[in-house]
Parts: sequence; structure tokens; C-alpha cells
Amino acid sequence: MNKKLITNAVLISSDHAGFNLKEIIKKYLISKDFKVQDLGPYNNDSVDYPDYAKKLSKKINDKKFGILICGTGIGMSIMANRYKKIRASLVFNTKTAKLAREHNNANILVLGSRVTNKNNALKIVNVFFKTSFLKGRHLRRVKKFKNV
Ligand code: RB5
Repeated sequence: MNKKLITNAVLISSDHAGFNLKEIIKKYLISKDFKVQDLGPYNNDSVDYPDYAKKLSKKINDKKFGILICGTGIGMSIMANRYKKIRASLVFNTKTAKLAREHNNANILVLGSRVTNKNNALKIVNVFFKTSFLKGRHLRRVKKFKNV
């Protein structure tokens, strides 16, 4: 695939369950010349995923993208999507990674380290950051997320 990247700067965070996968993805992104801001944790001691979802979500907008990882990806998704500007998408394969960007204009990619293996996760990351929002009817729908 030789598509243009949607950004070259990514914020990343996890809980203890997602820590190892966070480190792998961080190294992968750095090797692809992304600027990566790691918001922690910095070891795999037990932490609470809402704390890290909040820390990252506050810094995300339509131009700043992030990655959150916990065991299933579910807790991170629930927490992140409480922020108005966040469209966090829990993704399991390259197809949902592509559609999360094309249809939902996802600005946070959420992964579950206990349900997604390393190779699949790297393929997902690759597709996510190379896929643009399609706008059109999808923009109309995304606008309806507001004011609830
Ligand atoms: C931590 O054990 C686990 O609950 C967390 O990583 C996540 O899967 C929550 O949704």
C-alpha cells in the first residue's frame, strides 16, 4: 500500500495489560518516522485504564491522533468516548481499521492486547494511519454524534 499518511505524530498510552503491545507499536511507529508521544505507563505494574484513557483523550482533536491499548480494548473505548471530541474505535482487523477511518473519522485507535496478536496489531496500525475519512454522507452522520 502506498497511500499518504493522515499524520506523522501519534500519542500512545495503555494500561498494564497493554504495556507490551504499546512498546512494540511505539518502536514500529518510530521505525516508520512517526513522532510518538508516550503518555505511559512506563512499566507493566498494575494501573487503572480510565486514568490513561483520560490523560490521552484530553490531548486529541481532529488533527491529533492517538492509540489506546488495554486487555480487551473495551474499557479504554468506553472511557475515551465520554469526551466530546473523541471518536475512539475498537478495531480487530484491517477491515475495521479502514472503516473506522473512512466512515467514522476515528481519532483514537483502540486495541485489545489479549485479543489481538502483535502481527495483526501492526497491520491494523499501518492501515489506520493510511486511511482518510470519506466525508460526504459519513460526515453528516458523524456530525450527529454532537449534542447528546
Ligand atoms: C485489566 O485487567 C483489564 O480489565 C483491562 O486491561 C481492560 O481489558 C478493560 O477493559
